[in-house]
Formats: sequence, structure tokens, C-alpha cells
Amino acid sequence: MRDKFGRTIDYLRLSVTDRCNLRCRYCMPAEGVPARSHREILSYEEMLAVVSAGVEMGVRKVRITGGEPLVRKGLVSFIGSLAALPNAPEITLTTNGLLLSDHAKALKDAGLSRVNVSLDTLQPERFAAITRRGGLDKVLAGLHAAEDAGLTPLKINMVPIRGVNADEIADFARFSLDHPWEIRFIEFMPVSGNLDYPPESRFPADDILAELARVGELIPIERTGPSGPARLYRFAQGRGRLGVIPAVSHHFCSECNRLRVTADGRVRPCLFSVDEPDLRTLLRRGATHDEICAFLAGAICAKPERHRIGEADFRQGPRAMHGIGG
Ligand code: 5AD
Ligand code: SF4
Repeated sequence: MRDKFGRTIDYLRLSVTDRCNLRCRYCMPAEGVPARSHREILSYEEMLAVVSAGVEMGVRKVRITGGEPLVRKGLVSFIGSLAALPNAPEITLTTNGLLLSDHAKALKDAGLSRVNVSLDTLQPERFAAITRRGGLDKVLAGLHAAEDAGLTPLKINMVPIRGVNADEIADFARFSLDHPWEIRFIEFMPVSGNLDYPPESRFPADDILAELARVGELIPIERTGPSGPARLYRFAQGRGRLGVIPAVSHHFCSECNRLRVTADGRVRPCLFSVDEPDLRTLLRRGATHDEICAFLAGAICAKPERHRIGEADFRQGPRAMHGIGG
């Protein structure tokens, strides 16, 4: 399915919950967020109907996000039902890794192909400060469990923040020397008030590259086809890869292939959308498969050409990241 600007939309990001077992300072306020009631959140049956329609509209990849998806009960069997769809898409998961060691094997057996783990520091005290909770050792155990289970290639997402963890870019990069992992550095995006970190905390992609170059010579990896927004590199002796995602400084909106669905059944044509077509009401009116397809087609049509961060007419959306899933 193509949008108005000729982009092929084949990637669906599906948030299954807005709850989380961490309270990262750029994502959630200290007290957490008022939990949406069970009724407000789409059931797995409803989500399955959405993905099934998405597949019919050309979706080839589904990423499960949150909040933290592994806190929602029954996720493993939901992934099993996605994998059992006719024409099943590739299924991936973004997680903070805390519960990964408990579920890695079952997730793989259910049909999950791989995971991205969000991890911003390798220092236990910092981990506690950034996430307002503990558990770095559990996340590290989760990384290894995912690797052992074959949820590979494993990707780690790190968001460098000036004055907080940007001094660890080199430490993360060194992971790619010994491990066949992709370490991705995501430029901090100022969305929904940025919570604890002001916009000046953004550590720009060019500064990330300069930090990486201190570890070793960066060899660019040619992109073969649309591979998402990351610019990829490797070190000469490295087993893994490095990715830099210049979310703000060089927007890659012209290559955007994604559509987002929130846990409460809103479609977000863009990460920064202010308007969110309401799919839940349609689903609960007993919509047919064809009606859901038509609704998704409408949302794809509404995809804006690009985001306006940093421009005078940028309007901040109504949701923090935990409600979108990144
Ligand atoms: N800027 C950049 N990345 C963010 N994430 C969450 N909030 C932000 C932000 N403001 C990342 C998380 C996770 C992914 C889902 O999005 O760290 O890796
Ligand atoms: Fe949870 Fe991820 Fe938000 Fe941290 S960034 S609070 S792990 S949803």
C-alpha cells in the first residue's frame, strides 16, 4: 500500500500496553501514568483483527511495543496467534529486557523472530537513576537469554542524553567488537514535554559519530534496500554493527514505511501525529475485515509528509512515548 507521497507502508508498530515496569525519566513521570482500564485497551482478539487487516493491506513486519509489552499477560500466545495468520508477517518486539530472560525461549517458540532491547546505561546506579527502578543485571541476563534463544540479530537501543549517559557511547560501541549485536544510538527526540530532560539535552547524531570514531575507524555499511532509519557502520575488527538514528537532525520521513496502532486502539499515521483516528470504536461496532482495511487505508492516506520538530509550527502531540511505543 502506497501513501500520498509514494511511500510503501509495510511496517506496523503495535503497542499492546501503555504500562511499564520502569519509569524512565524521558518517558514517564515518577508516579507513573494513570492506568488505562481493561476496557480501554484493545483485546488480543481485536489486535489480531487489526494485524490481519494490515497484512491484507501489505504489512510485512509487525513490531510489538509498549509501554513494556512483556508486562501484558498472554503476550506469548498472542504472538503465537499472529505467527499463525495466513501470510504471517515477520514479528519483532521492543522491550526494556527486564522480563526477557523469563520469556525468551517461549517467545522464540511462539514465532517471534528477534528483539530490540532498550538500554541506556551499563552502570547500575545510573540505571536506577534513569529508570527510577533497578534491574540492570536482569536486563543483561535478558540480552544473553535472547541470544541463546536465537532471537537474533539482537539489537540494543541506546538514547544518549547530554550530562546523563552520553559519556557511555564508547562503552556501548565496544559491545559490537565482541558480540554480533547491532548497537543503535537514537538521537533524543523532544516529545510531550520531554519530562525530566530539556531539549538542550539532545545529543546530536554528529556528536554521536564523533564519540564512536574515538573507539575505532567507522566503516559505513551500504544499505541494501530500505532498512529503517539507522545509518549503519562497523569497526574493522568488530563482530557486530553500529547504528545511528538521527531522529531529529536529518529526518528520514521520506523513507518512512510505518503505521502505529496504540494499545487503546488509535491509529497514529506519524510518531508525532496530533490526530489519531479512532479504530477502537469501529472495532467495537463489529466492523468487518473489509471495513478495518478501509480504515487503515484512510490512516495511511493521512500520513504527513514529514515531522516539524524544531520548526515554528511544530505542535507537541498529546502522548508521551510510553503511550506510543517509540
Ligand atoms: N527520544 C528518543 N528515543 C526515545 N525512546 C523513548 N523516548 C524517546 C525519546 N524521547 C526510545 C526508547 C526505546 C524506543 C522504543 O524509543 O529508549 O528504545
Ligand atoms: Fe518503560 Fe520504555 Fe518508557 Fe522506560 S522508555 S519507562 S522502559 S516504556
